[in-house]
Amino acid sequence: MNRVLAHTGAKYPIIQAPMGWIARTPLASAVSRAGGLGIIETSSGETANCQAEITKMRALDLPFGVNLPIRFLRDDAMLKFVCNSGVKFVTTSAGSPAKFIQPLKDAGITVYHAVPTVDAALKCVEAGIDGLVVEGAEGGGFKNPEEVSTLVLLQAIRAQVDVPLVAAGGICDGRGMAAAFALGAEAIQMGTRFVSCSESPVHDNFKQAIVQAKETGTWMLNKKSTPCIRSLKSQRTQQIFDDGLMGPDALSGILDLYFGGNMEAAPALAGQSAGLIDSVKSAQQIIDDTVAEFFAITQRLGALAQNRAFG
Ligand SMILES: Cc1cc2nc3c(=O)[nH]c(=O)nc-3n(C[C@H](O)[C@H](O)[C@H](O)COP(=O)(O)O)c2cc1C
Repeated sequence: MNRVLAHTGAKYPIIQAPMGWIARTPLASAVSRAGGLGIIETSSGETANCQAEITKMRALDLPFGVNLPIRFLRDDAMLKFVCNSGVKFVTTSAGSPAKFIQPLKDAGITVYHAVPTVDAALKCVEAGIDGLVVEGAEGGGFKNPEEVSTLVLLQAIRAQVDVPLVAAGGICDGRGMAAAFALGAEAIQMGTRFVSCSESPVHDNFKQAIVQAKETGTWMLNKKSTPCIRSLKSQRTQQIFDDGLMGPDALSGILDLYFGGNMEAAPALAGQSAGLIDSVKSAQQIIDDTVAEFFAITQRLGALAQNRAFG
């Protein structure tokens, strides 16, 4: 039995990443309806709006989860709300989950934490985490400046822990999913693929910029300060890259980028998998294609094992 499916109640072990302002009911419900697991974000810091989104998702009676980005929570209002709202699955990120695990578990909630290193993974397991989201440096969004690829990080963490692993970073199809499973993952999480899907609320300019991007189309920015982010190349991010540092207000125009389509208003958070994405598809199509491709590849590999042959 796949432990991530047992923990989440989803049909397929495919999770839509939490993304500030973007991962709300229209996107999360489309993913959950298609058999994946939609996640509602709280990293926007819009407590009342996010609480309303959680209530809306609950009313739809679909499997879903909520993300709690520890460092960005102003107080424990969101934690308390989640504990009392019938949510079954939470991912925590950005900070130590130690203080969050017990209250969430006491409320009957399964908790996974997003980690960028083996040391962080071991601390989480020690603290009683139920599973880990293993976040490689290929992925979009806030990143650990000590870059480790999903390929290496998954193997390194799998070698040391027994809890279920969700692979995140650089995965946007069944090929990536099969590779992640070969390295020890039981599920995948996709951000860049779902931000560029039809039901994503972002402006078409952002989706088309992902579709047009090459595999070299992103920068890791602000590595010597915080937050270190991976985002699409643009005139603005070229300047930040050349400067080596990002101003404190660099992300203040993010809503103008997300919803106004002004691609120079802020860095457009996206991962290297933008270079693998060549069209906008519906969440249903993404999930159906990913599952079909996953089974085609694993069937081919299974035949190799059966015949003890390499081709
Ligand atoms: C536009 C965008 C916004 C993101 N915002 C968040 C966030 O608010 N909280 C979080 O934990 N991760 C965030 N992430 C990171 C994702 O959770 C995920 O780890 C990452 O997208 C996986 O890599 P991929 O982009 O290659 O699929 C964001 C990613 C993107 C692309």
